[in-house]
Amino acid sequence: MPKKRIDLFASLAAVFVLSGGLTAFAQTAAQAWLRYDNSHGRIFIPLQVRALGSGTLEQSAVQELQRSVADLPHAGLTARAKFVFRGQTIVGTVQEVRKAYPDLPVPADLEPEGYWIYWSGANADQTLIVAGADQPGVLYGAFALLRIPARGEAFNLHDHPLREHPAMPIRWVDEWDNPDGTVERGYAGRSIFFEDGNVREDLTAVREYARLLASVGINGCNVNNVNATPQLIDSDHLKQVARIADAMRPWGVRIAMSIALASPQKIGGLTTYDPADPAVKAWWAAKADEIYSLIPDFAGFTVKADSEGQPGPASFGRTPADAANALAAALAPHGGVVIYRAFVYNHHLNWLDPKADRARAAFDVFHPLNGAFAPNVVIQTKEGPIDFQAQEPVSPLFAGLRQTSQAMEIQVTQEYTGQQRHLVYLAPMWKWGLDFNLRANGRSTPVNEIIAGKTFHRPLGGMVAVVGVGRDGWLSSPLALANLYAFGRLAWNPNLTPEQIAAEWTRQSISNDPAVVSTVTKMLMQSLPAYVNYTGPLGMQTLTDITGSHYGPNIEASENNGWGQWHRADHMGVGMDRSVKTGTGFAGQYPRKMARVYESPKTCPDNLLLFFHHVPYTYKLHTGQTVIQYIYDSHYEGASQAAGLMDEWASIKGSIDHALYEDVRARLEYQAGHAIVWRDAIVQYFLKMSGIPDEKGRAGHYPGRMEAEDARLDGYKVIDVTPWEDASGGKAVSCAEKSCSAEWNYTGQSGRFNIAVQHFDLQGGTAKFTLLLNGQPVDSWAADAVLLSHHPNGDNSTRHTVHEIELKPGDVLRVEGTPDKDDPAALDYIEVVPEGLPL
Ligand code: GCU
Repeated sequence: MPKKRIDLFASLAAVFVLSGGLTAFAQTAAQAWLRYDNSHGRIFIPLQVRALGSGTLEQSAVQELQRSVADLPHAGLTARAKFVFRGQTIVGTVQEVRKAYPDLPVPADLEPEGYWIYWSGANADQTLIVAGADQPGVLYGAFALLRIPARGEAFNLHDHPLREHPAMPIRWVDEWDNPDGTVERGYAGRSIFFEDGNVREDLTAVREYARLLASVGINGCNVNNVNATPQLIDSDHLKQVARIADAMRPWGVRIAMSIALASPQKIGGLTTYDPADPAVKAWWAAKADEIYSLIPDFAGFTVKADSEGQPGPASFGRTPADAANALAAALAPHGGVVIYRAFVYNHHLNWLDPKADRARAAFDVFHPLNGAFAPNVVIQTKEGPIDFQAQEPVSPLFAGLRQTSQAMEIQVTQEYTGQQRHLVYLAPMWKWGLDFNLRANGRSTPVNEIIAGKTFHRPLGGMVAVVGVGRDGWLSSPLALANLYAFGRLAWNPNLTPEQIAAEWTRQSISNDPAVVSTVTKMLMQSLPAYVNYTGPLGMQTLTDITGSHYGPNIEASENNGWGQWHRADHMGVGMDRSVKTGTGFAGQYPRKMARVYESPKTCPDNLLLFFHHVPYTYKLHTGQTVIQYIYDSHYEGASQAAGLMDEWASIKGSIDHALYEDVRARLEYQAGHAIVWRDAIVQYFLKMSGIPDEKGRAGHYPGRMEAEDARLDGYKVIDVTPWEDASGGKAVSCAEKSCSAEWNYTGQSGRFNIAVQHFDLQGGTAKFTLLLNGQPVDSWAADAVLLSHHPNGDNSTRHTVHEIELKPGDVLRVEGTPDKDDPAALDYIEVVPEGLPL
């Protein structure tokens, strides 16, 4: 075999100018990262593409590779490029490749779903080989080949063939879709799967979604809400669901379903759903037979039971193992698995009980059942012990189930992290969890190795992401797609870094321009620390309305109720004491070495201090800063980091697609304003609670701010906002007339200013606002954003900024508000900010 080194990718990368961006919001995979135009450098393979076998996934691989060369512009190619394109691209399983090319060094030991990509030959017979260990391996190999230019590394596939396999067998997405077409905790419109109680006629988006998932190695999709509608597995609906399976199958994505444990009673006509009852077991076995007759490659069931009102085995004195094993027995003959969720807890905890602790629940319930589960059961545990908060420790249960297969559950949908209105790239959080060394038995046991089944030698295991995909541009926000991409990449290879993944995603989705790649990567990497800073740092969790929106600030919403997301802030201090010695004992659920670290505030890392300890506000962190000063500083820093994201984005204007630029710019501007709402809510709350001033003098002092309740009001009435911390000074004004106004005399310096108008954009109407200077309108706008709540609060408090206004002392500033239906044009304050200073 002639060994001519052809650095194929590098040579052709120079042929095309790489630019462009995301365009129209059609529901295609191209809208995400599968774009085969000149802009992302994926057109570098020999034009002739052929499969050696007839397997479905092999055909999909060919289709995908052909798609990538279809629009190849031949004119303008260099002579060398033309030469390169003369060869052929061959895809097949290892067996097929070995048979067709007996001389090639095809590895004999490729792991399941793995691939080997090799550049062979020279001159006219040059051949690019994509060999898969099996059908999925062929498909993943094709996508890996197309991703090579996005990796930003030089490849010489002849001397260094690309060989990879997934780190863990289960790499699923969970969709929390309901048959009526709504998506629980979804922020991207209606379901791509269901509408009006049935599976949608048009499943084009489902097919495209499967392609997207396959491109990053995701091999399963649980299609319905974990709060499952029992009827979805009746005979009529199963036939419909089989169409979803058909749509996803060509891309190697097997479907799974959430089931309600009460189904035998709810839809089966039995008098019980006791998992130990023979009639119940028989019902599940028959149901499994029926499912597999329609969907032969059905992946399995996901179970939420005895949790947040879902019925479960506890009603019959049975354990999760009894329930899981009954289902597992029904699925085992067909090769299906049961994913049983460890999210089992009592949401009627006694707030007055200092030992009560929701964080303990998963370990308390499941650890005693270690080893009691059938081999085809996987326990799926959320990354943290509470619930997808901005900052939590890793669940100790990962080290507590050594004879049971496990999966880690994460959220791509940003339930507690800004609901896709905020840019928050979550890969650094997941990576931290995956790398976290629990030190089970005192040895190195990072979570990614536990869930891969390596540490405790388990047959199954993996990662599952709740995605919340919808019909509005997949995840609504273009940059939020980086989270879906990152999930797939990390589940495939947890050794990748979040930066690498961000850069890869950017090259494929936005532009290959180095300045764009580095700016977007930087923005993505800054976004999670910023969000943690302006929401709830030091392990306090997301200080949001936990019984309602899960979005804006609402600090006491987590306290004084049975849900157990407590942080126990009082006048003296803050934090949950979870130590063994004086607290709930949660820290003792970790293996000894970790338990010791968390047990004492002295050794507990600062970023989790308040998760594990209740300390006075004057307690000094390892940095020497007091807790209260950290709360102030981090919130000011977080808000300024959020504003910084806007500046970063502005620096690549002109280098990327204009529509994308404007779309993201508007989102970032909103986020910067909402970060200020968060900052002010938390800072003024803790200032009042602690009575300790901000040593930098910011908390409670807002130069240039003029409160609506202090203005000359015409029609507007002063109202108390609930919770009080969501409005500046706790008050706002609201209009019950046709229109109202608030007027202030400007008494500051002369100069050019930006004027921020802080108002509440309520649902149920589109109020209008006008800012006037000395009676002359300078800006008008409609409060037409899709936010949450029918009451003025932090969910809908919105900042509208009017730029570059000349002011002098004695000028009169006036805001006119015109209510519309349920939106009373409520107003919080205006703020006059010298140009150049952060808003
Ligand atoms: C969160 C979420 C619920 C969901 C639950 C779960 O609490 O808010 O909507 O049902 O998690 O994971 O089961």
